[in-house]
Amino acid sequence: MMPKPRLAILISGRGSNMVALAKAAQKPDYPAVVALVLSNRADAGGLETAARMGIETLALPHRGFATRADFDAALCAELKARRIDMIALAGFMRILTPGFIRQWEGRIVNIHPSLLPEYRGLDTHARALAAHDTEAGCTVHVVTERLDDGPILAQARVPILPDDCEATLAARVLEEEHRIYPPALARHIEALGLNRPCPSGKGC
Ligand code: GRF
Repeated sequence: MMPKPRLAILISGRGSNMVALAKAAQKPDYPAVVALVLSNRADAGGLETAARMGIETLALPHRGFATRADFDAALCAELKARRIDMIALAGFMRILTPGFIRQWEGRIVNIHPSLLPEYRGLDTHARALAAHDTEAGCTVHVVTERLDDGPILAQARVPILPDDCEATLAARVLEEEHRIYPPALARHIEALGLNRPCPSGKGC
């Protein structure tokens, strides 16, 4: 049997989407194994959670690098050393360089807490509330060189209720994030037909 593609999950914080992906990947029919959880912040709570789940973790603090390109080169080397095939961003608060994204073309996915193309960037829920929107949601998409852009793999909508604040809306959206991210990633991995240890033969 072909070994499953090896997934790295990149986080910067609590890692609740990471947990949703890791739990899904524990099921025998999930088309990937979580081989690494990496954070650019050593204090990310998700690192401890992942370690408790028996997943290899790595902190790669971005402050240790002079440029984004240097950080991304180190990141790529760590991923390559672990024969990673696929990257899932899950609350990873770093913009990746175009060079890095090109090397992993089609193999980086992200979850964003808005109904893209609405509200790229930060503070999505505050902006939706300020605009008096009646619904919000989340999007799983392939990462391209443009921030919070790229082919959409899945979306889920939630209502915005009259007495919502940022926290209540974020919690409602987050539940949907956890629900849609694992199957959207699985479908993408299957569509890519991932079966090689190194991304698209290009190396890193
Ligand atoms: C999520 O809302 C995700 O959409 C956004 O950052 C948040 C991360 O939360 N990109 P968590 O670390 O997965 O709990």
